[in-house]
Amino acid sequence: MAKLKVGILISGRGSNMAALIRAAEAPDYPAEIACVVSNVAAAPGLQIAERAGIETEIVSHRDYSERESFDRTVSAVFEEHGVELVALAGFMRILSPWFPQRWAGRLINVHPSLLPAFKGLHVQRQALDAGVRLSGCTVHYVTGDLDGGPIIAQAAVPVLPGDTEKALSERILRQEHRLYPMVVRWIGEGRVTLSGSHVDVAGIPPGATLLFSPDP
Ligand code: GAR
Repeated sequence: MAKLKVGILISGRGSNMAALIRAAEAPDYPAEIACVVSNVAAAPGLQIAERAGIETEIVSHRDYSERESFDRTVSAVFEEHGVELVALAGFMRILSPWFPQRWAGRLINVHPSLLPAFKGLHVQRQALDAGVRLSGCTVHYVTGDLDGGPIIAQAAVPVLPGDTEKALSERILRQEHRLYPMVVRWIGEGRVTLSGSHVDVAGIPPGATLLFSPDP
């Protein structure tokens, strides 16, 4: 069966992108990484992608006075590469409403909190400040509602006494690296159905859309 063509949009380090690239190297993985686009020329993730032999493109937001014209250029790059699913991976720009409409149902993101808690920036700091005992990450469809789209899967991690933002971020990131490739696999296998604001994942063990670390 043809593999799902995934385009990845990054702004920086690219560790989630690297996790997707690694997963897609397995012969039985149902998706392939068609290209990586960065809005930041110096994003370290670009080199990781290049080393893995993946086509990369820089679309600098600084070259665009309007958000939507930047978005349209990024979209055109993905179309040129035959992309069927766009995965945001540490993409730190707000998209214009046009982009999630253009890619409706084919645009996903990984976010380092258990949404709908802690949207926006510095979410691990927000979690520490709120005193929550659990945090984690969420893979969700992207809509025009910032960090508000339908949830596909989540992973929960404990927030431990004395945690720093760095320690909590690293604990969550390890789960992002498990969760994101798992969700892209499900999408590639055609198991994921979006109906309105709810997502159904067919044919996986009950509860498998929620990971725990450590396992309870
Ligand atoms: C990740 O923790 C990702 O969830 C977060 O930025 C980090 C990027 O790391 N994304 C967001 O906060 C988007 N709202 P990476 O570049 O190493 O994948």
